[in-house]
Amino acid sequence: MKKYEQLLLQNRAWVQQKLAEDKDFFNKLANTQKPDFLWIGCADSRVPANEITGTAPGEVFVHRNIANMVVHTDMNMLSVLDYAVNVLEVSHVIVCGHYGCGGVRAAMMHKQIGLIDNWIRHIKDVYRMHNDELEAIADMKERENRFVELNVMEQVYDLGKTSIIQNAWQKRGGPYVHGWVYDVGNGVIKDLKVSMNDDSDMPEVYKFEKMKKV
Ligand code: CO
Repeated sequence: MKKYEQLLLQNRAWVQQKLAEDKDFFNKLANTQKPDFLWIGCADSRVPANEITGTAPGEVFVHRNIANMVVHTDMNMLSVLDYAVNVLEVSHVIVCGHYGCGGVRAAMMHKQIGLIDNWIRHIKDVYRMHNDELEAIADMKERENRFVELNVMEQVYDLGKTSIIQNAWQKRGGPYVHGWVYDVGNGVIKDLKVSMNDDSDMPEVYKFEKMKKV
């Protein structure tokens, strides 16, 4: 059997298992989705959003890219964010990075990889912003881990800088945006405690004028 055929077989087994647990499992999901969470995570195969949070199909709207970035010119991310916030009206947006992230590690190096260098550049900007703190950490593994955390925090702040999030905050006092880091070595998610649902901690220059009430 070819490797990919194994996936299709496992799919059939999964369907049978779900139906055995609940014969209406798929009927319930077929017509609508009302997830309460948007997950912005790394594309890394070791960090599957649903599996590590114990959530089922229908519970988490997911966007993944290399190093869980919130890049303001990324039409894909902006579209997912707009849909999740304004149509699905999720209550929480979670940026989840992970220790051992290849994208973050690459951003600490000088090697050219290819087209992806232009994506990695955004992560290098985070290093520059926190240069003094990071350079003061002698142990390279520790420095990399802190860089992972700082990168997640900056992506949370970048969410707050979007008109999508600011308008939603004004309109409905949400969503909360959160920054988490997953440890691929032990499976535990750490909350970086940078959650926010208003612009009170945001530098003035990023704040948009409030929408007129209609
Ligand atoms: Co990664």
